[in-house]
Amino acid sequence: MSRLYSFAVTTVNAARLHARIAALARFGALPGGGVTRSCWSPPYEEARAWLLAEIRAAGLQGWVDPAGNVFGGLGASSFSAGTPSVLTGSHIDTVPEGGTLDGALGVLAGLECLHAIREAGAPPRRPLVMVAWSDEEGRYGSLFGSRAFCGRLDVAALPTMAATDGERLVDAMARAGFDAARAPEARVPEGAVHAYVELHIEQGPRLDEAGVPIAVVDSIVGVRRSRVIFNGQPDHAGTTPMERRRDAFLAAAEYALSARELIVERGGGRSVTNIGVVHVHPGVSNIVPGRAELVHEMRSPDADTLERLAQGCEALAQQIAERRQIGAEVRRMSVTLPVTCSPKVQAAVEAACKQLGLGWQTLHSAAGHDAQNLALITDAGMLFIPSRGGKSHRVDETSDPAAIERGANVLLQTLLALAR
Ligand code: GLV
Ligand code: MN
Ligand code: MN
Repeated sequence: MSRLYSFAVTTVNAARLHARIAALARFGALPGGGVTRSCWSPPYEEARAWLLAEIRAAGLQGWVDPAGNVFGGLGASSFSAGTPSVLTGSHIDTVPEGGTLDGALGVLAGLECLHAIREAGAPPRRPLVMVAWSDEEGRYGSLFGSRAFCGRLDVAALPTMAATDGERLVDAMARAGFDAARAPEARVPEGAVHAYVELHIEQGPRLDEAGVPIAVVDSIVGVRRSRVIFNGQPDHAGTTPMERRRDAFLAAAEYALSARELIVERGGGRSVTNIGVVHVHPGVSNIVPGRAELVHEMRSPDADTLERLAQGCEALAQQIAERRQIGAEVRRMSVTLPVTCSPKVQAAVEAACKQLGLGWQTLHSAAGHDAQNLALITDAGMLFIPSRGGKSHRVDETSDPAAIERGANVLLQTLLALAR
C-alpha cells in the first residue's frame, strides 16, 4: 500500500450529511411535507446555487457544465482522459409532490464522502468527482443531464422537447441562464471516467421487508414512454344519441385497462405499466370528448420484452380505435434501455459491506437512474438503502437516519476502493 493510504478514512460525518439533507429539503418544500423541485424551476435553481456553495465550502472544486450538471471535484476541476476520475452522484430535481431523499441522498452522500476524504488529508490515487445530474425525473426529457454527459442526447429533438404542460425545454433553460443548443457540449471526453457508483434509496419494499441494510444492484430496468392519442368527434353531450357518439375518452379508458392486462400477461412477471398523464379535449362536461391523450409508461428489465410489449400496445390502440370508429396515433417519446451493472462496481460495494460488517442482497432496480447512461461509457453500478414502507415518489418517502449513515459509509469505502 502506498504512503498516500497510510491511514484509512473510516467514516462519513453523519451529522453533517443529515444537516445537508434537511437544508436541501427546504428548496421547494411543501406545507404538508415533501418537495416539488422540477429541474430549471426557481426552487431548483436556488438549490443548485446552494449546492455549488456547499461544494466550494467543503474545499472541493465546483463547476457546472452546459447541460446544467453540477460537479464537485477532489483532485480534479474538469474531466480528462489523462487522469480518469471516479464519479458518484445522483440528482436534486424531484417529481411533483415528491420526497426529500430520491436523488438528494446520492448527491449529498457523494459530497459528504469527498468532504470526509479531503478532511482526512489522504487523497486517493485517482481524482474523485461528485455530481448532481439535471432533470433526472424527466420533466422535459428523462435523465437529461446524464444523457448529455454520455453523448446520448437526441440533439434534433432539443428545440421541441417540452413538459406535459407545454413548457419548452429551451425556454426553461433560458430562464435559468442556459442555452439548450449548447447542452451537447457537456459530453465527457472518452476514457475520462474510471467508474461511476450511485447511492439511492430503493424506492420499493424489498429491502425494508427483508430487513437487509444494503442492496447491490445488478441491473436497471428499461423505461419506455409513449404518447397515445385517440381522435374521436366532439359533439353535444345532451342531444347526441348514445349510439352515434365517437367518444375519444372511452377509447382511452378501454386502452388503459387492456394495456395493463396485456403487460401483466405477457411481461414475464417483472414488467410494469402506468398511465399517469391523461388529457381530455376540450375538457368540459357538456361536450363529448373529441380527443384524449395519454402518456403510457412501461418498464421491464429485459429489452426484447419491452419492445414486444410496446408493439403489442401499439396494435391494441389501433384495434380499439377501429372498433370505435375513431383515429389512434402512438408517438414514442423516450426509451431508456435496461442495463447490467458492472461486476467490478458490484464487487467493490460487496467488499465495502463485508468490511463494515453489513449484510446485503443483490437486487435489480425497478426505477430508472442516471447510472444506466453512465453504464454505456464506463463501469457503473449502484447501491440501495431501504425505503421505509417502500414509499417513494410521494411526500412521506423516508429512510431511517441510521440506514442513511450506513449507505454513505458503504459508498465511502466503495469510492476509496475504486479510486485506489
Ligand atoms: C425515476 O424516478 C423513475 O421514474 O424511475
Ligand atoms: Mn424519482
Ligand atoms: Mn432518483
